[in-house]
Amino acid sequence: MSVFYKEENNVGTITFDQPDSKVNVLNSATLLTLDKMLDGLKAKNLKALVIQSAKKDIFIAGADIKEIENIVELQDGKSKAQAGQRVMDKIEDLPFPTVAVIDGVALGGGCELALACRYRVMTFNTKIRIGLPEVNLGFVPGFGGTYRLPRLLGLQQGLKMIVSASPINSSAAFKCGLADRLYPSVGLPDRVKEFIEEIAAEPNKRIFKPYTPKGVQAFLEKNPLGQGVVYKETIKSIQKATKGFYPSPLKAVEVIRKTLYLPREHALDIESSAFAELAITPISKNLVKVFYMSEKYKKLTVPGAENIKPMPITKGAVIGAGIMGGGIAQLFSDRGVWARLKDINQDAIAKGLKAAYDVYAQAMKRKKARPYEVAAKMAMISGTVDYSGFADADIAIEAVVENMDVKKKVFAEVSQALSSKAILASNTSSLSVTEMARASKDPSRVIGFHFFNPVHRMPLIEIITTEFTSQQTLVTTLEFAKKLGKTPVIVKDAPGFLVNRILLGYINEAGRLLGEGGSITAIDRFATNFGMPMGPFTLSDEVGLDVGVKVLHILEAGLGPRFKPSKIFDDVLPLKLLGKKSGKGFYIHGKERVVNPQVQALVQSGGSIKEEEAVQRMMYIMINEAAMILQEKVVDGADAVDIGMIFGTGFPPFRGGLLRYADSLGIDKLVDGMEKLEARFKDGRFKPCTYILDLKSNGKKFFI
Ligand code: NAI
Repeated sequence: MSVFYKEENNVGTITFDQPDSKVNVLNSATLLTLDKMLDGLKAKNLKALVIQSAKKDIFIAGADIKEIENIVELQDGKSKAQAGQRVMDKIEDLPFPTVAVIDGVALGGGCELALACRYRVMTFNTKIRIGLPEVNLGFVPGFGGTYRLPRLLGLQQGLKMIVSASPINSSAAFKCGLADRLYPSVGLPDRVKEFIEEIAAEPNKRIFKPYTPKGVQAFLEKNPLGQGVVYKETIKSIQKATKGFYPSPLKAVEVIRKTLYLPREHALDIESSAFAELAITPISKNLVKVFYMSEKYKKLTVPGAENIKPMPITKGAVIGAGIMGGGIAQLFSDRGVWARLKDINQDAIAKGLKAAYDVYAQAMKRKKARPYEVAAKMAMISGTVDYSGFADADIAIEAVVENMDVKKKVFAEVSQALSSKAILASNTSSLSVTEMARASKDPSRVIGFHFFNPVHRMPLIEIITTEFTSQQTLVTTLEFAKKLGKTPVIVKDAPGFLVNRILLGYINEAGRLLGEGGSITAIDRFATNFGMPMGPFTLSDEVGLDVGVKVLHILEAGLGPRFKPSKIFDDVLPLKLLGKKSGKGFYIHGKERVVNPQVQALVQSGGSIKEEEAVQRMMYIMINEAAMILQEKVVDGADAVDIGMIFGTGFPPFRGGLLRYADSLGIDKLVDGMEKLEARFKDGRFKPCTYILDLKSNGKKFFI
């Protein structure tokens, strides 16, 4: 049993408390129990019904995603949604006041249940997140959310919450009218009792005055013409953000548009059909898988090290106040970790501090941070040109120039300055962490901690272990990555680690395609048409061609000639057309970005590359590299590759990840396609690696 009913002084209480679980979810069994419970209640003459959770920081986390994942037929999807809708309707139709008491997360079905209640009271608990994130999983809310939310909060706010899939905290909920009251968590039962007395005196009282728009807002909210503008603008911004790859937010707009004036029964019928239609799509199935993976990696632990306690990290040191060092110091301070920022001179430190401040300035501009908070956080970063303060640090992260000699020197120095417990990490993007460890005093405390640029935005961290890294160092670093709000993958020290090794193969292949007579814009467009966030040449211009070629050489030395920089890169590099940082690269970066004719002129003319071939080549090269990574056990499974590519490069989540995409092609077809390319180029780069051939001969896929 996961729902319990109790009655005292004519007040009924339904409590959710799923056994053996930290959260409550609305699965079929729970809904059925609730349905019957509500049938028994409707004839009662209660003063009020309270709906609450016994879990700490959780109201109801949502519907059961496993059940949704298993939906393969339209009718099954529709019935599942209708089962939820029926329960919500029964709550809404109870003849006495209903109060949802929310002291934690109320997402999806949990939010929809709260919406069916007449009142919602919340607490100041900072863990509260309430909203409808369904579109992120590729479907629309299916338990009445599209019907109730816009009616309660107004069209614009309701649409925004559903389409953005962004839950809000309790103060935002109070501000927009989703919460009728905010109370402290302590003493909540007494406050709820008082609240019930208050509403018992006037059962239909609306505590929160319904949103009454004025002026332009009234036009936009209430007038069909104005609403037309709202729908049009929403669709425009969805298309801009999703490039048409994600049907669910558009469907949500369509459902709301069709149902806003319809009676409940009819509106819910449209909602359940839309839910079912989307829930069975491969896109939704992929997004659900990505959700599971991301949950798994956010909570990643080190197998076999369950008994090792992570050391607390409150003070950090960062060496190198450049693009990355400044970003890392900002992240530290934002997460309450003191940051001692070292560089070779004061000017460099000033630049690092400014880089950190710029991130906060953006947050302030978007009203995500207040000036006094930023002042307090910036005060957690201090600069130094020597190693003073390092003895206190729990961790030091090296982010100096990508040069092994410099890094080794820094490692030797820093390891002398640190205490005997502190961890020494490198943010290197391609160099051997093992070699750096050898230059340090205690290699067991050395680890790679590879952030992606920009640090505050990119969710991934590669944690790179060497043969010397101790379990204690790994466990502590892993916990620290989570404390910084990042998703970690654990990678063995090997050239290019995980993400850059795969990504550079792709960029290099794009270079070859261009050299064969392709066009810069067309190849970039082929990649974005596939769903990549940016094309390979746009990406190269962002990173800098010098950096890319340098890493390609490192990979070539470590992994073989398949990483030899493509001829076009070798031709462009001496021209100092490095990309954004030099104003010109594959594109000219002025007010408007245009293709650089100087580069395009270097390409043999008369060639043309078909989109299908270009995409195949760029994807196959990545899939083959990823399979070699698995073969070499650089990471422990296909999901590490997929999470790395999605969170580190923006590989399109709707495709499920690189290797899930490979599975969707079919291993036989993949091998066939690769062998054809190999027969044409004969340089081994498309030769399917043993791992892929084994999958084929065993009739297996990357994922079971
Ligand atoms: P950067 O050139 O912006 O900054 C390097 C900083 O290190 C400079 O301020 C320099 O003065 C300082 N420095 C040099 N020698 C030093 C020493 N002995 N002691 C203290 N400071 C010293 O470089 P960036 O881009 O921040 O890269 C730093 C590291 O992060 C490199 O290993 C790079 O591969 C890695 N990385 C870079 C990414 C990027 O996109 N820029 C992404 C991920 C990793």
